[in-house]
Amino acid sequence: MDRIRESDPDQFKKWWADFPERYHPLGKLPENIWEFEPPTRGSFTGEVDVFDHPAAFPPELIEQILTLSTESGDIVLDPFAGSGVVLGQSELMDRRPIGVELNKKYCDAYPALREYLEDQHEEQDQVASQEDLAQIICGLRQTKYARELLRTMAGELGLSSPSQLDVHTAFLVSRELGYQSVENDVHGQIDLILLVDDETTARQALDYDEKAEEVTTIQPCSGFGIRARTLVLTVEEFINEIANDTYTHLPEELFIYEDGRHYVYSEDISYDKWRKLNDGSDQWTERYSDDKIPPIVSNIGVEINHPKHSMETVSRELSGNHEMQLHKAGGGHRKHIIRRS
Ligand SMILES: C[S@@+](CC[C@H](N)C(=O)[O-])C[C@H]1O[C@@H](n2cnc3c(N)ncnc32)[C@H](O)[C@@H]1O
Repeated sequence: MDRIRESDPDQFKKWWADFPERYHPLGKLPENIWEFEPPTRGSFTGEVDVFDHPAAFPPELIEQILTLSTESGDIVLDPFAGSGVVLGQSELMDRRPIGVELNKKYCDAYPALREYLEDQHEEQDQVASQEDLAQIICGLRQTKYARELLRTMAGELGLSSPSQLDVHTAFLVSRELGYQSVENDVHGQIDLILLVDDETTARQALDYDEKAEEVTTIQPCSGFGIRARTLVLTVEEFINEIANDTYTHLPEELFIYEDGRHYVYSEDISYDKWRKLNDGSDQWTERYSDDKIPPIVSNIGVEINHPKHSMETVSRELSGNHEMQLHKAGGGHRKHIIRRS
């Protein structure tokens, strides 16, 4: 059934980006009742009326049935072929069709129908692939995971808000990302490095270590299908680890999520710039001091054109697409886009 999962987020509920953990990475299963518009009779493509048949199947219906029930190279027999939609769609999908039709008029019109279906098919190829959707859903799950871990941790520690955690940056480092990329039902692997203020470390770091690890094993984090490793470090320790190459998974190019808005990064930042704002300076802490959730900095850059939330808080220019960028340590860069406007 996975083959026919709906991968176009426009068909999802408007809040889909807020609940990526509830969406299968490959998309939504169709309902039990499928609805397709019948092809319009009288849709002329030049000289021949390709759908001049009273009972032509909608091509999308046939595509779905063939996707579900056949493999590339299979023989598809339609003994009452009519307009030939089943045959044309089979050809487009690299199946081998055999058709029988009594009425010569429909047989003669078949080449035009075949051409028409081919044009339609090329247009459809522009839209959402399951692979792109999977990357975006898995990316959203990771950015939201970081936020939920901070929230749950604050709750477990009896704090009224994650802003009281003294965590002034949460580094979310995506190590693996994608459908089943780690193992069955585990669609990603992350390191979550919580940086605490130097002066609070002695008092709280031990507790934080334990709590952060514990939170990965309980709801909501345990329901995200993500394997997470948590680390609690002081800013100084972290900067030293990077300088000494002890922690090598952090790429140069990073994205900032403000106030727990996991579906859109507010700006990008290089590690060098982040270090300068933090190394012996309070600039970074001051900038985010009013936020309810500490800033999350990640190698994943997600930008969902969210139909329900205002994007006004984001000062950079938005692309208007559903997209996800991933920088890897060592320079690899991947970009996935669903909507091409
Ligand atoms: C309901 S239509 C099929 C329409 C088709 N599913 C489509 O998408 O266009 C049935 C077709 O079977 C053809 N037909 C009826 N009896 C037949 C026979 N004995 N051998 C071949 N074709 C026949 C009819 O001419 C008619 O076009």
